[in-house]
Amino acid sequence: MADVEIRLAELRDQINYHLYRYHTLDDPIISDTEYDQLMNELRELEAAQPELVTPDSPTQRVGAEPLSEFEKVTHPIPLTSLGNAFDDNDMRNWLARVGRILPEGVTTADLEFVVEPKIDGLAIALTYENGLLVRGATRGNGSVGENVTANVRTIKNIPLRIPAKSNDLTPPERIEVRGEVYIPIAEFNKFNKAQTDKGERIYANPRNFAAGSLRQLDSKITAQRPLAFFGYGIGYVEGAEVQTQHQALDYLKALGFPINPDILHTADFNAVLDFIHTWMTRRNQLPYDADGAVIKINSFALQEQLGVVGNAPRWAIAYKFPAQEATTKVLAIKGNVGRTGQITPYAELEPVNIGGVTVSQATLHNYDDLAKKDIREGDTVVVKRAGDVIPQVVKPILDLRPANSQPVQPPERCPVCNEPTSRQGEDVALFCINAACPAQLIRQIEYFVSRSAMDIEGFGIKIGEQLAVEGLLTDIADIYFLQRESLLALEGFAAKKVDNLLTSIEQSKQRPFHRFLTGLGIRYVGSTVAELITTTFPSIDSLSQASEADLEAIEGVGPRIAASIVAWFSRPANQALIEKFRQAGVTLQVIQPAEADSTPQSLAGLTFVITGTLPTWSRTEAKEFIEQYGGKVTGSVSKNTNYVVMGDNPGSKADKAQSLNIPILDEETLKKLASEGKTAVT
Ligand code: IVH
Repeated sequence: MADVEIRLAELRDQINYHLYRYHTLDDPIISDTEYDQLMNELRELEAAQPELVTPDSPTQRVGAEPLSEFEKVTHPIPLTSLGNAFDDNDMRNWLARVGRILPEGVTTADLEFVVEPKIDGLAIALTYENGLLVRGATRGNGSVGENVTANVRTIKNIPLRIPAKSNDLTPPERIEVRGEVYIPIAEFNKFNKAQTDKGERIYANPRNFAAGSLRQLDSKITAQRPLAFFGYGIGYVEGAEVQTQHQALDYLKALGFPINPDILHTADFNAVLDFIHTWMTRRNQLPYDADGAVIKINSFALQEQLGVVGNAPRWAIAYKFPAQEATTKVLAIKGNVGRTGQITPYAELEPVNIGGVTVSQATLHNYDDLAKKDIREGDTVVVKRAGDVIPQVVKPILDLRPANSQPVQPPERCPVCNEPTSRQGEDVALFCINAACPAQLIRQIEYFVSRSAMDIEGFGIKIGEQLAVEGLLTDIADIYFLQRESLLALEGFAAKKVDNLLTSIEQSKQRPFHRFLTGLGIRYVGSTVAELITTTFPSIDSLSQASEADLEAIEGVGPRIAASIVAWFSRPANQALIEKFRQAGVTLQVIQPAEADSTPQSLAGLTFVITGTLPTWSRTEAKEFIEQYGGKVTGSVSKNTNYVVMGDNPGSKADKAQSLNIPILDEETLKKLASEGKTAVT
């Protein structure tokens, strides 16, 4: 092999391993910069000699040429569906049925079970030959699915080559790995929110998102969707011995597949039921949308003997969680005016309890959707809550519709300022375009002071509203001109509250420039885009003079974002706003911290989770502190978490930390850990 081929193989292995550390273990061991360097070297070598690009190269995860249709794939072993149980009684009946078919000498008391969450996504079968991913296929009708290999390659926690980690397992000659492609709830909400902000269509639920994203003919679109995968089974394997479901999961894990951490293996059927009950009550805390649990008999030999009836195996069953749905009455349909002036219809409901949460409002997404579903005031409707997703009105129950009801028309005037509304082109969104609309101002303030923007402690929605209504704020820059006396004159503002508020406002003037830019609320410029832009345009002056072409030259900035920024700066009112911020002394450029390079990287290699309210820091500040010292912050506690930083009123993360024996720090000890090292906390 030529030197370059050896180096290429090395780079591919290293990068694939780091992707595995990052996306599957959530435990990276190199910095983003080091990772980028490896990727750049690989790209350059491959560009010079394209004939050396292999299918398992991480450069091949970005999507391929669009297809005109998917090729059909016949599954060597059909992907069956599952029978359903809806309560414990159904489960006991299932066990009794199993008991009647078990071979001589085996009773239900001898059985072992594996219980897994039933994630609501899309089933997929991944074929690997000699370690290389050669095919990904959807379930389709169970016998024939679609070849979605190009799309599957873009899912970052699906290994292109196995084993994905450095161990001495030899890959099996052939294996078909089965599992679920899904979207984490947080990503789903983020995606839909961004779509709503842009006035674009959203997905009704995480399942539709997963299906819609995996079945894109253009895999470059799939590559931009934050899909993830959990393996739950083996269709067949040649070249490895696996005898039980539990061994199968262990084996898949050893090969580097992501396996759900919340799995029970037990011989006690009551423990199976207990486990499911616990989950049911906690389903809203899981980072994914689970619609039930799957219970499987562990032994493959017994599975074989029990066999399949119709389309469902006897050896497994799905315990469906109750639908988080309820029916209630629509009291009124109103419009909510957002920060960008977008008007979103929502239903005011007769309060109803869904899965332990009282719901009295539900979104209707947009006026097109509302018209399509034909939901009217006075209707009795089905309302649904899925995970953390905002409650939605699913459909009206037409039999119960009052005789005199009328379809809802999109408002011709803004529900808040009463100025005419406007609809732009094909866009489904309806807007209030009155820049002086108080609803928009209130939302702008709310956004400007929020954690992802200027992070002004103690400046909540209520205060924003009150100050806008009292006329103390006529634009967001007025925040920096608030007078102590005028605040003291307001209802509910004691001296201490006023002083604290003014101190936080003063401190926020030093926020990094990209946070300020985020806070301006320019359409399509959220925190990620703002950070991108400020690396090329490090000051408000350079940015305000940038042309659309200049902006589009930044990777990640498309024509729509560029046009929106240029349009924003071209408005004299916005120029005046910037001048006000300048006079107030707000930081309007990137400040290179003088000592940036000298901060000791004393937290390097450590992973933290922050929970609860800390005494002096916001969570964003704590995160920035940890990152400055080289540490990493993740959202959920796992065995890869080194420390949990805990404040008042911690959530379930604290319990999880305790059960995993992960040390818990307070804010003070965290500071000590950074400055004095590990001895500070032992
Ligand atoms: S096992 C016979 N395990 O549920 C075994 N399926 O009706 C068949 N699903 O769309 C599948 N999580 O993709 C199994 N842990 C899990 C699962 C699971 C989700 C989905 C599966 C299919 C449906 C089966």
